[in-house]
Amino acid sequence: SSTEARIVIDLDLPGPTISRHLYGHFAEHLGRCIYGGFWVGEDSPLPNVNGIRSDVVEALKTLRIPNLRWPGGCFADDYHWRDGIGPRAERPRMVNSHWGDVVEDNSFGTHEFMALCELLGADPYISGNVGSGTVREMSEWIEYLTRGDDSPMASLRRENGRDEPWKVPFWGLGNEAWGCGGGMRGNAFADLARQYATYVREHGGNKVYRIAAGANADDYTWTESLMKSLGEIKKCSNPPYQAISFHYYTMSGDWADKGDATSFTDEEYYTTLAQAYRVEEMLTRHSTVMDQRDPLRRIGLVLDEWGTWWNVEEGTNPGFLYQQNTMRDALVASLHFDSFHRHADRLVMANIAQTVNVLQAMVLTDPDSGALVLTPTYHVFEMNTGHHDAASLTTHVLDAEHREDLPLLSASASTTGDTALISLSNLDAGQARSVVLDLRGRSLQGHSARILTAGALNDHNSPEHPDTVRPQAYDGVRPHARGLVVDLPAHSYLTVSLQLG
Ligand code: AHR
Repeated sequence: SSTEARIVIDLDLPGPTISRHLYGHFAEHLGRCIYGGFWVGEDSPLPNVNGIRSDVVEALKTLRIPNLRWPGGCFADDYHWRDGIGPRAERPRMVNSHWGDVVEDNSFGTHEFMALCELLGADPYISGNVGSGTVREMSEWIEYLTRGDDSPMASLRRENGRDEPWKVPFWGLGNEAWGCGGGMRGNAFADLARQYATYVREHGGNKVYRIAAGANADDYTWTESLMKSLGEIKKCSNPPYQAISFHYYTMSGDWADKGDATSFTDEEYYTTLAQAYRVEEMLTRHSTVMDQRDPLRRIGLVLDEWGTWWNVEEGTNPGFLYQQNTMRDALVASLHFDSFHRHADRLVMANIAQTVNVLQAMVLTDPDSGALVLTPTYHVFEMNTGHHDAASLTTHVLDAEHREDLPLLSASASTTGDTALISLSNLDAGQARSVVLDLRGRSLQGHSARILTAGALNDHNSPEHPDTVRPQAYDGVRPHARGLVVDLPAHSYLTVSLQLG
């Protein structure tokens, strides 16, 4: 049997813009994300541009990835950028203590990262070292990257082969300063963030948006400390940092036993989605804390690490965080995006962890054959590209069933010009449902739909079966007196595109 819910959308009431930066990415020196993922080296038999793997870049360009955060994560607070410039053979080595205790040869450094961003057409988001780096190091790094004249760092960059300065619009001040980034307390870090931010200077025409390392999940006190240190934000305020981040990961168990990526019960599936849905509460409550001193919402909230974190795949290095990615992960992603769209007036950026071969990846590459696989999560990002920089539309979901606190139907929508895009997730593990789209305010000229679903919740893609979970055109959308009616199979994700009059 199927139940029918209704979603009311006022197509002529556009809300805040959904920044494309909510679809941002994160690449750390961790496992096979950089080395063996993005970076294969110039001598690789795999097609590459100056060492950067071409098919990975091509796959990600389809997602129009807006920004890429690098070099960490925890790695960022161990990273000293001057070790990653100059002739590769002469670069010093270091130990990557957080991730597998492996030796890092620094062959992927600043120039390689900026070349990757240029190939992707993505804005760089550099995560600066506050935990073990100096203020001077950070100050010189942005000078090296963005200054055009003959300053010491601009000259050094030229010696290393790059004449023109780059643009770096986003700069992180530390990472998880409460943990791997220095084990600090909120107020102490808030002072340090102000200090470091002062020296992240704007050279030439480079406008930089400084993001202070934020809370662990629901630690609202941390956000409060960072806001307190900014004082009252007014229209004319010129705060030392312009945004505050936080991190939140989804798992079905706890940190000691996070759950398996592909083998899980229905109960664990629902626990996972309920955990993912907690992001809605966190976005609301971090925003509420920020509203107290910043009612005009000038300071941005940035969720610069999110996604599923499962037990590592058996037989892989436990420090490399390699995991498979199923239809369940796809629904975790779609649920997050619906929340992100609802909070578009405060949330300015989000970065899934991590783009290639680590945690909830878009792309998995086989270490032996080199085969590249697109994950179900990749497809959700692709199906949602129409929301980038579109105006959000409120979706009033009526009569939706819940399983405890989890709504089993999730939705969001946006509009650009004469089009609208509606995203719908049926989170029910086993039951199909129909939903009436009650479309008001503009006339409907046409529609089309796409669906992402799978025979089983744990279906996933592999080199042998790369297309088990992939989007298809969908004809289960019919005209209805109120607009449209959509049949949603169990555990499915759909996008409905509308042409409007
Ligand atoms: O994404 C993996 C790690 O998770 C990051 O390095 C760190 O910031 C977080 O704890």
